[in-house]
Amino acid sequence: MNTPTVEPRFRPRGRNWPLLFAWLIACGGSTKTTSSTSLAVTMAMRGYKGVFWDLDANMSGSRVLGYTQEDLKGRKTVIDLISGDATFDEVVVPARYWVGEDDNGNNLYEHIPNLRLIPSDPSLSGTDTLIAMDPDRNDWFMEALHTYDGDDEVFHLDFPASYGKMVYSVARMLDEDDKVIPSVRADPKDVNLVPDLINELANIRDKNKNKRSVPGRPTLTHLLLTGAPTPSYTEAPARRAAELATSLYSEVLLPLVRYSADAKKLYEDTCPLPVLLPNSYPAEDYRKVATALGFVER
Ligand SMILES: Nc1ncnc2c1ncn2[C@@H]1O[C@H](COP(=O)(O)OP(=O)(O)O)[C@@H](O)[C@H]1O
Ligand SMILES: [Mg+2]
Repeated sequence: MNTPTVEPRFRPRGRNWPLLFAWLIACGGSTKTTSSTSLAVTMAMRGYKGVFWDLDANMSGSRVLGYTQEDLKGRKTVIDLISGDATFDEVVVPARYWVGEDDNGNNLYEHIPNLRLIPSDPSLSGTDTLIAMDPDRNDWFMEALHTYDGDDEVFHLDFPASYGKMVYSVARMLDEDDKVIPSVRADPKDVNLVPDLINELANIRDKNKNKRSVPGRPTLTHLLLTGAPTPSYTEAPARRAAELATSLYSEVLLPLVRYSADAKKLYEDTCPLPVLLPNSYPAEDYRKVATALGFVER
């Protein structure tokens, strides 16, 4: 099962599935999707093989990586994995971005090498109820990992802003070697939500402490602060948030990702930031973040 070409650091404790990066914090608009797509693309461009799992019904990660709901008509999505009606290989698609149209008006795309996507679906918003009604569904992510046999190096997990049952079914599969990375805006309100996440992770570890088939040890390993001050962006809350994060979380704080008004274009143009604006402050900073996490240029 375990593909010999994969470096051991991407297969913690010799398991068959990749290192997991969980972009998790119950805070809307906290820049989870911007950061997870940007880092996934940066690492892929540096030569690391990854799969981006869009676990949010809003589909923003799927759109940034090239797929609208329309594009996915008739295709399997993460919802089919959760309901047990599809396998990982049937759902995963190559990540891509739109580059224009041909003479017949057909969309043309460029593939992002080394990156694939597990696309989301709007009906994902009903998954907590689905799992509550059929507790077997709680095992869907465990099943997907145990039956995985590819050579990807990282699974990037982009979560919705909640600590519901679907989030739990995924988060309990993390071990201490995996990474929980809340991405928060440089705003004291966002930084002040980090303790809730730390409590939630402690609850998950506690609930799973005697399980054998479930690692059950998600641990806060890093914190990413985005929209950080620049010489021309000097808002008081951004400065206060950067000071707060530095004083409270210095051991886990990643290089700061600076503010850029252009970051919004990511959603207007549905194209990942490192591709759309490679010379912007945030794109440059996500490269520093990738390096800090040990994903240097290959
Ligand atoms: N570095 C940045 N500077 C300014 N705005 C940013 C930056 N990064 C992200 N944003 C903006 O923050 C908003 C919320 O981001 P998003 O990634 O969708 O959050 P979440 O996934 O947590 O809901 C988006 O409008 C995005 O353009
Ligand atoms: Mg999001």
